[in-house]
Amino acid sequence: MNKSLIAIAIGAALSLSSGASLAAAPADWSQVSATDVTLFYPGVSPVEWVTKGTEHGGARALRKGEVCADCHSEEAADIGQTIVSGEKNEPNPIAGKAPAINAKVQATHDGENLYLRFTWQQPAASGSAKMDEVNPVKIAYMIEDGNKVELAEQGGCWGSCHNGVRSMPGGDDAKTKYVKDGSLANGVFYDLNQWRSGENKAFDGYVAEERVMEGGTALIGAEGKNDNGNWSVVFTRKLSGGEGDVSLASGKVYNFGFAIHDDSANGRYHHVSLGLKLGIDAEADINAAK
Ligand code: HEC
Repeated sequence: MNKSLIAIAIGAALSLSSGASLAAAPADWSQVSATDVTLFYPGVSPVEWVTKGTEHGGARALRKGEVCADCHSEEAADIGQTIVSGEKNEPNPIAGKAPAINAKVQATHDGENLYLRFTWQQPAASGSAKMDEVNPVKIAYMIEDGNKVELAEQGGCWGSCHNGVRSMPGGDDAKTKYVKDGSLANGVFYDLNQWRSGENKAFDGYVAEERVMEGGTALIGAEGKNDNGNWSVVFTRKLSGGEGDVSLASGKVYNFGFAIHDDSANGRYHHVSLGLKLGIDAEADINAAK
């Protein structure tokens, strides 16, 4: 057993997430349909870049309402390859970093809780210096309700990715992701949940004027494991929620995106999905059925 696995095992024993509440997660996930999603390495491709016509071929179509996936769903892995190589949008390429990660997402609910399961195969390590010494892997998803966040419907998490934030070239170390006109009071925010492998801890936050990693009351916990490089992480969250949580209702569809920090990465050095739709008993890219 390597050190990180031991840390996970110890963490699991102490974690508040391993209570009875998780016992309701499906015992047999093989019965739940899975959606294949390619997460690609985006480098430095913030809102400011994707929406600027002189730089990005898709900018004009975005203004007319096209979604990223219309143009890029088939070639997401190729984008990752272009960027990870340093050919484009990456001033600081990391040799050996994976261009893309193929993940599967499954979702189900029991009228009270939503269960979201992410599985993927760990890419080969780059061998570069660890940016996050504690967490070899982190996974986060964001949910948005009502298309209030600019670009949330078209581009999933992209509405929160800006020039000038921490780990961007010339960025401000104190500045994290945010959304245009972000406001919890006005409902302009992403609900954010994250699980970190080394800490074996789940975080329930949001992104509005800034990113906040705590305070949510919807997330019950997350359980992750690494079985010979096969990762599986199950989040359990209440359908209902408080401040900074999106309340989920049967029959509705929400904007959704997720990202994996692989290879002990931090900040922008993650792999990200294009925009997806999460349906609760509703037809969508990912349908959480009862
Ligand atoms: C109408 C089609 C279209 C849409 C919609 C679109 N793009 Fe693009 N995108 C392109 C084209 C064409 C290129 C390649 C040439 C260029 O950069 O102009 C590109 C390039 C890129 C690249 C650089 C990597 C590469 O292979 O050149 C990234 C990253 C990217 N797009 C992200 C996005 C994101 C994120 C969205 C949604 C917010 C989006 N695109 C929406 C057409 C589109």
